[in-house]
Amino acid sequence: MATPLVLAFFMVVIAVMAVDHPPTSAPSLVTYIFGDSLAEVGNNNYLQYSLARSDFPYYGIDYTDAKPTGRFTNGRTIGDILSEKLGSTSPPPYLSLNPHDDAIMKGVNYASGGAGILNDTGLYFIQRMTFDDQIDYFENTTKVIKAKIGEQAGTRLLNEAVYFIGMGSNDYINNYLQPFLLDSQQYTPEEFLGLLNLKLAEQFTRLYLLGARKIVFHGLGPLGCIPSQRAKSKTHQCLRHVNEWVLQFNTKVQKLMNLLNLKLKNAQLTFADTYNDVLDMVDNPSKYGFKVSNTSCCKVDTTIGGLCLSNANVCKNRREYVFWDAFHPTDAANAVLADRFFSKMFTTPNSSKAIAPNHNG
Ligand SMILES: *[C@@H]1O[C@H](CO)[C@@H](O)[C@H](O)[C@H]1NC(C)=O
Ligand SMILES: *[C@@H]1O[C@H](CO)[C@@H](O)[C@H](O)[C@H]1NC(C)=O
Ligand SMILES: *[C@@H]1O[C@H](CO)[C@@H](O)[C@H](O)[C@H]1NC(C)=O
Ligand SMILES: *[C@@H]1O[C@H](CO)[C@@H](O)[C@H](O)[C@H]1NC(C)=O
Repeated sequence: MATPLVLAFFMVVIAVMAVDHPPTSAPSLVTYIFGDSLAEVGNNNYLQYSLARSDFPYYGIDYTDAKPTGRFTNGRTIGDILSEKLGSTSPPPYLSLNPHDDAIMKGVNYASGGAGILNDTGLYFIQRMTFDDQIDYFENTTKVIKAKIGEQAGTRLLNEAVYFIGMGSNDYINNYLQPFLLDSQQYTPEEFLGLLNLKLAEQFTRLYLLGARKIVFHGLGPLGCIPSQRAKSKTHQCLRHVNEWVLQFNTKVQKLMNLLNLKLKNAQLTFADTYNDVLDMVDNPSKYGFKVSNTSCCKVDTTIGGLCLSNANVCKNRREYVFWDAFHPTDAANAVLADRFFSKMFTTPNSSKAIAPNHNG
């Protein structure tokens, strides 16, 4: 489920919309979210047998009414925080909706903890919606939308929506980096990356054929620095080889997206790089008001599953910690990252270009 470092970018895009166009005249931005535990807002609560869940204490201990919601943090996700800033709400989990609900035309969140690019990633969580599953559900959504408002209007809605994807952390953390799983024995790191790239190309193309044009993909953060990985180092340092793989992944996906932009008519795929922002927070915690970035608030770095279960030893001052559990950032870290994203968006021309309204389908 572990994807602390893949960041929710979509709300920043809404920020740009809000600033570019006064709210009164702004076309309402429709967003479809695909991803793993950092983007999840509660789909897995509906998967009865899923082990990738967070609908119990201490999750949500700093959320409204201290309520666990299926978010993998003590409080808000980055998306939640940015939507607060803007006075909007993030799209609801797909599984909380009736598939015919009118709400699907305003945006849906398909993200599911434990999900990966590859179908076999996160297998040991028993249930999760893999990226392929999420696209299957989205395909269903596109049919319902077209049935509601007609082929032409439906296609326009889908062309103009923004698609946010945060995927890939679990393919490393909960697949390739697990020595007992086949993929790590079967493939070299280069071969594994080739596999991910091939699968992603297929998934981007499938989304495009279903009507997606404006696609924002989050690059991976320095996964070698999350508590579950540091715990594998005798001196609790970041795992360099893991960060190296992440950087190679980011480079390759960026190239793939540029290629697809040339190949697919009117496609506007954007790569959102977050690696250095997260690394800076980990390397210089005090710069952002944190005291601890090398271990988790819940002291679960080495426990099985790495989640903050109700028997965990939760830190008192959660604002002093970058990481909540062995994988995911705290509410306070999400707030910092949300701020950085918010200001950074204005200096990233491709991102704002990708979400600008267009009418060329
Ligand atoms: C995904 O993996 C599951 C479990 O291994 C398998 O049953 C299913 O057929 C696979 N689906 C695809 C599309 O490969
Ligand atoms: C898929 O869409 C149909 C309507 O076209 C709906 O009846 C069905 O429940 C949906 N299935 C899922 C799994 O969302
Ligand atoms: C984290 O870093 C501090 C120094 O800033 C050190 O005292 C502590 O032992 C480290 N903890 C772990 C779990 O590595
Ligand atoms: C931005 O887009 C241009 C072409 O549209 C491309 O050459 C460039 O690599 C992109 N930059 C980033 C950071 O993706």
